[in-house]
Amino acid sequence: MKRRILVTDGAGYIGSHTCKYLFHHGFEPICYDNLVHGHRDFVKWGPFEEGDINDSQRLHSVIDKYRPEAVMHFAAYAYVGESMSDPMKYYRNNVYGSMTLLQAMCERDVQKIVFSSTCATYGVPETIPIPVEHAQQPVDPYGRSKLAIERMLRDYTYAYGIRGCCLRYFNAAGSDPECELGEWHEPETHLIPSNLEIVICAG
Ligand SMILES: NC(=O)c1ccc[n+]([C@@H]2O[C@H](COP(=O)([O-])OP(=O)(O)OC[C@H]3O[C@@H](n4cnc5c(N)ncnc54)[C@H](O)[C@@H]3O)[C@@H](O)[C@H]2O)c1
Repeated sequence: MKRRILVTDGAGYIGSHTCKYLFHHGFEPICYDNLVHGHRDFVKWGPFEEGDINDSQRLHSVIDKYRPEAVMHFAAYAYVGESMSDPMKYYRNNVYGSMTLLQAMCERDVQKIVFSSTCATYGVPETIPIPVEHAQQPVDPYGRSKLAIERMLRDYTYAYGIRGCCLRYFNAAGSDPECELGEWHEPETHLIPSNLEIVICAG
């Protein structure tokens, strides 16, 4: 049997590419996504389970069904501007949702997690390039919601033995080399696709 990984955001941009990578490296990715921003067509590399990370019952039943050995957690709201006008939406979905997911993992003895944090946890950098140990001083609710999850994860590691790592990456861009997936955000706020849109429109 293939080793199973539960991927939250499996129907989103980064999650769907991750599912493809996992599939081609001997794993079975279980896509868990509520499709609020995701695309059903992006789920091609393993089973799809529609569900919300805030829904602990649904998480329990999916974990019981597949017994994943780890979770890759990407599901979140990720629009900086929207997080400033509606921070409650971000703390509820990102922080509470991650807390619910971590609780389900603890209750079902799933101990490994890769968490998709963000460069936005650094805030305004004092040095460039930014070293990974740079102080984290986020300047918007989106970044603060992600930093809260990083801290929660660290506390859960000490208390409950959850093992994890946090990815603080910058603007991802582009598609898988075979162009089977791609980036599809509405609205598109990321630097590289937005610039390409401007160039294409101007051209
Ligand atoms: N795209 C980037 O350049 C970038 C850079 C740094 C960090 N990140 C982080 O990577 C992650 C994924 O980003 P993306 O670009 O793939 O975003 P995306 O909007 O394409 O995907 C997010 C996915 O999460 C799902 N989702 C949201 N809330 C959910 C919930 N409560 N329950 C279940 N599913 C839910 C959405 O339906 C969507 O499919 C995010 O956590 C984001 O903060 C992205």
